[in-house]
Amino acid sequence: MRGIRAFVGSAALWALLAARVAAAVEPVSMAIAIGAASILTGYLSYSGAFCRFSECCGEERTLNASALKLNLEAKLFGQHLATEVILKALTGFKNNKNPKKALTLSMHGWAGTGKNFVSQIVAENLHPKGLKSNFVHLFVSTLHFPHEQKTKLYQDQLQKWIRGNVSACGSSVFIFDEMDKLHPGIIDAIKPFLDYYEQVDGISYRKAVFIFLSNAGGDLITQTALDFWRAGRKREEIQLKDLESVLSVGVFNNKHSGLWHSGLIDKNLIDYFIPFLPLEYKHVKMCVRAEMRARGHAVNEDIVTRVADEMTFFPKDEKIYSDKGCKTVQSRLDFY
Ligand SMILES: Nc1ncnc2c1ncn2[C@@H]1O[C@H](COP(=O)(O)OP(=O)(O)OP(=O)(O)O)[C@@H](O)[C@H]1O
Ligand SMILES: [Mg+2]
Repeated sequence: MRGIRAFVGSAALWALLAARVAAAVEPVSMAIAIGAASILTGYLSYSGAFCRFSECCGEERTLNASALKLNLEAKLFGQHLATEVILKALTGFKNNKNPKKALTLSMHGWAGTGKNFVSQIVAENLHPKGLKSNFVHLFVSTLHFPHEQKTKLYQDQLQKWIRGNVSACGSSVFIFDEMDKLHPGIIDAIKPFLDYYEQVDGISYRKAVFIFLSNAGGDLITQTALDFWRAGRKREEIQLKDLESVLSVGVFNNKHSGLWHSGLIDKNLIDYFIPFLPLEYKHVKMCVRAEMRARGHAVNEDIVTRVADEMTFFPKDEKIYSDKGCKTVQSRLDFY
């Protein structure tokens, strides 16, 4: 970026110098040269031009809410609550020119229900390069914070990393995967960044987005879904209020949630608890079809059924929900 600016500056300087030389010769050439210089500077100094050469943070970039909606509705199966909450949370946050705090989303649910998948969609809608963006950061507990005895060190590293990245780009996105495997206390290191402070040590964290992913609370969500199913009620009838408070209390009291007795919950710093429902047979089939299309193949219903039939379902008697959600669909499809 600096290099490009320097280049623009020197190009303009050269054009002006040329104009001076031309002025000694004749006034028409001088006018043309000055015109060219100002057009060149004006065009290149327009921030959009810089962003063609290198990725820009785009702190003021607006969210294309209808694109996000279409994306979620077309790609994410069986998650009416997650779709609704994510849309509402992101639209509200990005439409607000002066948010009072960073946006914090905590996604919970059974394996293979779409938590990482959705974070990727969210990331792409905030920074076009998605997970490959310099402004989107993924932490995986077992990879980045494996040793319990190093909690203090991890807390320091995490604070430094977040501080450095938010000072470079206010709208940075941080995704914490496998929260349920994170040793208790580590996450509290980022508490000051999620609070309602205007600035912390001269840096504002209010435009950043923090996303936590976890299996914790998956059992509570499944139980609620099952209760609805057994009562003959539709899955789509489940509302956020049926789950949100159960989830926040359950996660707070779960020693293996990464948020056990965490100040983030205690101080209401998590804006939304987002439940991911366990996936049914029909959703698994939808995942198989989506994967076939993604591979450029025509959908073959015979194979769709065979792949879905290979998955295992629970509870033992009713066999409604897929054990692994859609997680092994891709590898199973390789056999056909
Ligand atoms: N609800 C869904 N709609 C569409 N595709 C899905 C859905 N859930 C899962 N998938 C597919 O399955 C793959 C695995 O899902 P994902 O990694 O998002 O699961 P997860 O919820 O993060 O699971 P885990 O808790 O085990 O990490 C995704 O890449 C996607 O292709
Ligand atoms: Mg995951």
